[in-house]
Amino acid sequence: MAEIGRDVGRAIALLKAGEIVAIPTETVYGLAACISSDTAVRKIFEAKQRPFTDPLIVHVASVDDVVPLVTDFPEMARKLMESFSPGPLTILLPKSKLVSNLVTNNSPLVAIRIPAHPLALELLRGLGEPIAAPSANPFGGISPTSAVHVQSGLGAKIPYILDGGDCGIGLESTIVKIEDNGKIRILRQGGISQEELQLFVSLDLDGIESTETVVPGSMLSHYAPRKPLYLMEGELKTKQENIGWLRFNALLPEVSHENQIVLSPSGDLKEAGRNLFSALHKLDSMSVDEIWAEKMPNHGIGRAINDRLFRASVKRA
Ligand code: TXA
Ligand code: MG
Repeated sequence: MAEIGRDVGRAIALLKAGEIVAIPTETVYGLAACISSDTAVRKIFEAKQRPFTDPLIVHVASVDDVVPLVTDFPEMARKLMESFSPGPLTILLPKSKLVSNLVTNNSPLVAIRIPAHPLALELLRGLGEPIAAPSANPFGGISPTSAVHVQSGLGAKIPYILDGGDCGIGLESTIVKIEDNGKIRILRQGGISQEELQLFVSLDLDGIESTETVVPGSMLSHYAPRKPLYLMEGELKTKQENIGWLRFNALLPEVSHENQIVLSPSGDLKEAGRNLFSALHKLDSMSVDEIWAEKMPNHGIGRAINDRLFRASVKRA
């Protein structure tokens, strides 16, 4: 099993030695490697059993650290980053030679973000170089929002988990790209909502509700518990005992309360987002056979939650 601790110096030493280390971010835990070493980056794919065709997000400590990684940093991208970073926003930009093709799967674009977690920032500053980090879960599984989640998914495959407590946002970053027409396109809904982005930039929302794969890793079946998950809309009419229920803000009165998890009793979508993955981890370990999840209101962070629930409900081929 991996060692769990709060020792940033130890995490840095391991990364410098070419190891992979799980680190906390405000969104979900990441599995990090230095981008300067293809050998280290390869270990991420191996530990997660992730196909090399699914590129990795590069994490840096400041907007200035983005400059050497890109060949062009349009004013709009800089403005977006300055407005939302550190925070759950990832931007695709044309990569420089410092970013290996292994990280981007040969794409000319690299995904970059600045995580808003004090330990992640301390680690990046101390390390003095960018890290590549996907979510620290086995490929296709539920994302981890605590050190314990990482331990249960990948503990046997990594030396160290830097414990930064429970993730404050609990949903992955929003991924955006600047299109040729200058508009911003959301490729993955996440911790920054569409409405928040719209206050700053003009969004291209054509086809945004479509479930097509827009980034390589958002193939349909994803974020999935081991148990079958069904996404429910409207009133739920069953009293079957073997179901675990994921609810937005209220218990279903007619079924056993102990098999239900309410994400936010006050109906706060941000709180629901923060609790989503840990609730799925819990439901997966309860003695129920199926998970029935209620669809969230489809605005704000609700869109990102519904996206994760939808993908979790799609059966693997
Ligand atoms: O909040 C987050 O973004 C977390 C934390 C750890 O930072 N990371 C995360 O990484 O969610 P991951 O690998 O689980 O999801 C990253 C997504 C994948 O769907 C991947 O295909 C896409 O970003 N992506 C990464 N680099 C890309 C690129 N160059 N072009 C297009 N998509 C890219
Ligand atoms: Mg992931």
